Amino acid sequence: MIARSEAGREVNRSLGYPIVVGAGLTGELRRWFADNGGCAAVLADAHPPVAARAAELARALGAPLVTFHLGEARKRLTTLEVVLERLHALGLDRRATVVGVGGGVASDLFGLAAALYMRGIGYVHVATSLVAMVDAAIGGKTGVNLSVGKNLAGGFRDPRAVFCDLDALWTLPRRALREGLAEVVKAGVIEGGAYFEMLETLAPHRFSRWPWFEVVTGAIGIKAAIVADDRDEAGVRELLNLGHTFAHGIEAASGWRVSHGAAVALGLRAAGLLALRTHRWTARDHVRLLGLLALLGMPLRTHQQPRAVYAAMRGDKKRRDGKLRFVLPRAIGDVEAGFAASPAMVLEVLERLRRPPEAIERP
Ligand SMILES: NC(=O)c1ccc[n+]([C@@H]2O[C@H](COP(=O)([O-])OP(=O)(O)OC[C@H]3O[C@@H](n4cnc5c(N)ncnc54)[C@H](O)[C@@H]3O)[C@@H](O)[C@H]2O)c1
Ligand SMILES: [Zn+2]
Repeated sequence: MIARSEAGREVNRSLGYPIVVGAGLTGELRRWFADNGGCAAVLADAHPPVAARAAELARALGAPLVTFHLGEARKRLTTLEVVLERLHALGLDRRATVVGVGGGVASDLFGLAAALYMRGIGYVHVATSLVAMVDAAIGGKTGVNLSVGKNLAGGFRDPRAVFCDLDALWTLPRRALREGLAEVVKAGVIEGGAYFEMLETLAPHRFSRWPWFEVVTGAIGIKAAIVADDRDEAGVRELLNLGHTFAHGIEAASGWRVSHGAAVALGLRAAGLLALRTHRWTARDHVRLLGLLALLGMPLRTHQQPRAVYAAMRGDKKRRDGKLRFVLPRAIGDVEAGFAASPAMVLEVLERLRRPPEAIERP
């Protein structure tokens, strides 16, 4: 259970900026701005539960609040222009620092706006969704979608600080929570050990009883450690794409009806199948992974046509010299990047995704 009194704590500094996790956090933000120059404006997702939090924060910081209707469909250059023009209307100069409040769409879009406005002003993100806390707000990637694909325009730009408000998880819809959990499981497969075991222990319990501070902090630590070693995504950062080559194909082939989180769960099963097929990992580990995903209510099966998914995967921007490359697990806690699978192998795995999951009872 998240104790309401749980104060925010800086949990990570390996990326050069503080990442603070806790319930509430208005006091922490006020202190941070007192030490680091004031807050020029609070930008927020207009979705009421998020906007209400942002309004409270803006009052505490004595800063104007500007809300924007967001959502994936509005993560576009046109919205970016609206945000930039609002920053100008507020009279912000290049020494300003703004706060963005919201999920991953907010962190990608407001982060990019701050990077572009007058060639760059300070940015602080207050993450309100699990995806933003464990993934989007960590690592400095910002971006918007183009009509031809997701996240095709953007840049690397670190925020000055990130605050993960665990209280916000209470209003987050189940569906959005599950989106984040898929990334948490992915982090768990990369990290293995006590973190993966903690997820296995928690999985049968109600989310309201989960120790979210530990879950979020652990996933941040895993991502931050990888990103810190590879700021520009030239090497190890690729490991974070575990399950994602399949996931992007599944999402795209469904016309974005399959959510990213569901696609990542399917992608993790697919990566496991490819690893089994190439004798990289054991049936025991595979079944352990499927067991965790199943307990969390993640989909493990899709009826999509393998050829359609394969075609969409080939359109993936992460493809290099025409070959599809995969991050594959070798064990829970050991993953490798760069496996170039033959089309036949990929199609075989996609065909398996149409069938019931491999026996998921615990070994
Ligand atoms: N830059 C990166 O490294 C990175 C990594 C992962 C994901 N992303 C991006 O993040 C986005 C997905 O993030 P997301 O799932 O947070 O999407 P989102 O920001 O659209 O949030 C999902 C939904 O939850 C609502 N919401 C957010 N916080 C809430 C709260 N506390 N209570 C109630 N409702 C709340 C939002 O209004 C929205 O309707 C995608 O655009 C993806 O590309 C970026
Ligand atoms: Zn993802």
